[in-house]
Amino acid sequence: MVSNTIQFIYQNKIVKLKNPDPNRTILDFIRSDLKQKGTKEGCAEGGCGACTVVIGELKNRKLIYKSINSCISFLPTIDKKHLIVIENLSLKNGKLHPVQEAMVKFHGSQCGFCTPGFVMSMFAMYKNFSKFSDETIDETLSGNLCRCTGYRPIIDAAKSLNLKNTNDYFKKNEKKIIKMLSKIKDRDIEICFDNKKYFAPKSLKNLKRILKKNSNTKFLSGGTDLSLEVTKQRGEIEKIISLNSVKELKFIKKTRKFIEIGSGVSLYEFQNVIKSYYPDFYNILKRYGSVQIRNVGTLAGNIVTASPIGDSLPLLLSLDSRIKIQTSKSIKIVPLSEFFLSYRKTKLKKGEFLYSVEIPINKQNHFRAYKISRRFDDDISSVCASFNFLIKKNIILKAKIAYGGMSEIPKRASKIEKALTNSVFSEDTFYKAKNLIDDDFSPIDDMRASKDYRADVAKNLMMKFFYEVSSKKNLRVN
Ligand SMILES: Cc1cc2nc3c(=O)[nH]c(=O)nc-3n(C[C@H](O)[C@H](O)[C@H](O)COP(=O)(O)OP(=O)(O)OC[C@H]3O[C@@H](n4cnc5c(N)ncnc54)[C@H](O)[C@@H]3O)c2cc1C
Ligand code: FES
Ligand code: FES
Repeated sequence: MVSNTIQFIYQNKIVKLKNPDPNRTILDFIRSDLKQKGTKEGCAEGGCGACTVVIGELKNRKLIYKSINSCISFLPTIDKKHLIVIENLSLKNGKLHPVQEAMVKFHGSQCGFCTPGFVMSMFAMYKNFSKFSDETIDETLSGNLCRCTGYRPIIDAAKSLNLKNTNDYFKKNEKKIIKMLSKIKDRDIEICFDNKKYFAPKSLKNLKRILKKNSNTKFLSGGTDLSLEVTKQRGEIEKIISLNSVKELKFIKKTRKFIEIGSGVSLYEFQNVIKSYYPDFYNILKRYGSVQIRNVGTLAGNIVTASPIGDSLPLLLSLDSRIKIQTSKSIKIVPLSEFFLSYRKTKLKKGEFLYSVEIPINKQNHFRAYKISRRFDDDISSVCASFNFLIKKNIILKAKIAYGGMSEIPKRASKIEKALTNSVFSEDTFYKAKNLIDDDFSPIDDMRASKDYRADVAKNLMMKFFYEVSSKKNLRVN
């Protein structure tokens, strides 16, 4: 079944939009069509959080709430979801939602431009967690910027929610929303608007059918990179195929040797899976963009974007990850180290898409990752380094090292790896080997960091890895 009409819930009603402009953002729709001006536009690139809204979606017949940046989300992606904006939080009689009450009580607002975004992020937290630890609060607010209140009162407001009853109006209304969302049929979406087309197939079979008939299409996953072609570069994307509704791409497979992540899995979901295998991977992901970005962005999107400073890439490279590419005929398995060809160029051919990522599990290995960025939260790295070592009896049996921000593609430090393999795990070995950074890489030089800074940081991170592992292993440092 194919439909040209998207359907979503807004204020307890199903809204239907026939052939909406696929390049239009949810923010534009909220402000211009719904005439709700509480949701603000600050940066229009996902960086400030002023445009944060909450999307309710069904998962295993349960409603989950996600904060998203409406400024970089295309309108058709709202299909089969519940849209909640700031104006919907208070009751008709004017009673504020507990999150709003807390912001008032703790003076969490001054000029108020950022406030709706903060409230919506806190609202998503309030709905998804039963307790709000300092860590949860920091993570929740990392994608919202305020230039005048200062964060302390806002954090205090968030902390005070621990004392509030979470049985709010939305809880009472949940069954009704679930019923309404279930009523919207699963179907393929195919939209035509002027010269633009948008497809959202429900299955791999339908996706392949669309691909056969439509060349020059762009794949959309979280859109945290792609949407900027419209919102920042003022371009137009004529043909989009959204991979978000393809059920077969939303899987996580765990075996004793590897975990496989389907390309439709969000970074937020992935961070909670990788945590128990590689805690450092989790720590890096927690500093990847913001919750709003990770709620929609995917590992697959990060890989295909092929940015030299893509955060997951050095980590995946040092772990010897492999990717599965769906071609028109079959699935091809490619080591990630062979995927990046030159600046933002990959092996992916027209019409091919990333099916999944396979990450080996090596419990014996020492895995560490470091992200150096100008700000701790919500910033892309200047240098990202990842180390994956097998050490036995103080001898390095395997050394896998990869860096981001050190060349036009994220890549392995092959000369250093060679020099370290079969060497003694010692300060002296690392001290000598770190100078090979200059042979392995010629760092990029841009507004984030100079090439000399990057080279120095890369060397220092090698030493950091050594000192951290040696202190943990209680190895001799000499
Ligand atoms: C505010 C903000 C903060 C950010 N912070 C970080 C950060 O800290 N670290 C970092 O590394 N990145 C960061 N990014 C960049 C961005 O989040 C990543 O590039 C992201 O992983 C892209 O994933 P996506 O699912 O949103 O991809 P999309 O934007 O949907 O797609 C990106 C590209 O990949 C293609 N594509 C997507 N999925 C597939 C697939 N399955 N097969 C083939 N092609 C595909 C698309 O056609 C497009 O060319 C940030 C971006 C923003 C806006
Ligand atoms: S307007 Fe800044 S994140 Fe959307
Ligand atoms: S209150 Fe003014 S930007 Fe936050």
